Amino acid sequence: MKVLIVGSGAREHALTWKALQSELSSAVYCAPGNAATGAIAVNTDIPATEVDAIVRFVKERDVGLTVIGPEASVAAGLGDALAAAGRLVFGPTAGAGRIESSKAFAKDLMARSGVATPGHHVFDDATRAKDFVRGENRAFVVKADGLAKGKGTIVAGDVDETLRAINQLMVERNLGSAADSILIEERIDGREVSLMALVDGHNVVPLAPACDYKRALDNDQGPNTGGMGGYSPPGFFSEADRESAVRSVLEPVVHALADAGTPYRGCLYAGLMVSHKGVQVLEFNARFGDPEAQVVLPRLDSDLLSMMEAAARGDLSGRAPDWSSRSSVGVVLTSKGYPGTYEVGMPIEGLGRIERDTFAFHGGTEAGPSGYRTAGGRVLTVVALGDTIAQARDRAYRNAERIQFEGVTFRPDIARREIEVAALP
Ligand code: GLY
Repeated sequence: MKVLIVGSGAREHALTWKALQSELSSAVYCAPGNAATGAIAVNTDIPATEVDAIVRFVKERDVGLTVIGPEASVAAGLGDALAAAGRLVFGPTAGAGRIESSKAFAKDLMARSGVATPGHHVFDDATRAKDFVRGENRAFVVKADGLAKGKGTIVAGDVDETLRAINQLMVERNLGSAADSILIEERIDGREVSLMALVDGHNVVPLAPACDYKRALDNDQGPNTGGMGGYSPPGFFSEADRESAVRSVLEPVVHALADAGTPYRGCLYAGLMVSHKGVQVLEFNARFGDPEAQVVLPRLDSDLLSMMEAAARGDLSGRAPDWSSRSSVGVVLTSKGYPGTYEVGMPIEGLGRIERDTFAFHGGTEAGPSGYRTAGGRVLTVVALGDTIAQARDRAYRNAERIQFEGVTFRPDIARREIEVAALP
């Protein structure tokens, strides 16, 4: 089977790497792919949101399965167009994908399906939103309703920060039309976990849980980013917790989407908060998480392509992936200044020196005459496997240190809390 992976980040590098391990794959194409996928698969020059060009390519090359990576491709209707052309696609329609592209839609869906989520109010007017916050006189989470590349959620610490967040989103419009309307959401405390699942319209096959780190700086300080690292599995989220979240979160929303005539096929990502009130949903994504895919896929012993094809066919019933008992830790190497302004074009040294059981998934690189150079903010995700989370963490950081480029920056605390918990008497 010929496969097309849509997207160009480290997540898509990991998906391409995994698809190539399948006996089912006769060729793997990427649209557009990146410098590293070009070295292991066949890059096309088709941008991920060029729906007509992708459908044409799929027909011309007789691609058997298209896997949609980014949310922008989902929102552009790539899943709809491929399905209309009679082509197998792993990725939802734009209608089902509203679970990510409209936070208000996701909240309504959760209310209809009895899924626990923090309380919220929706505003399309900054003055009314601010009046509400002043009236309540406490801090809230402020969220852009639309797609914002991971930067649309501001967890404010006090009333002034909440008001500033409303200003940034609705008055300064730093995320453009993504914040034409916003959600003012209750703050809840707890531990965050990302639970992704393969979904075939009805059946839900959960993947291993993971944790990601969204803020730029150590100890969850600084601005939101597209993800600074992650690990799997989190020690605080048991197998029983995962099964319970499948029953109480993923299955109800999947069934509600099917009942609404917009069945969900693809990877469904639930961002969960394990709080003293139980598990609550912070967000859904209509795709694999980034960097969650990079830390979860190396632990998957089963054939991902076969399961994605089964999901696309509506035939996941009875499938249960096998997982390695090993842990993984991923550290994202960024360009200095990210998520603000940064320079690119820095030569990258040391990629050839990384150890066994360690992977460097490329997110923002380009191939030059004398090797790879930086070409983006999130340059590489360095992922290591280990028998314990401590071993995986040591290996990930040891190898991250081996990779050098001018201005290389990474968080020092990925998975540190797991080691600290393990060290408690
Ligand atoms: N890691 C969060 C996301 O993929 O949106």
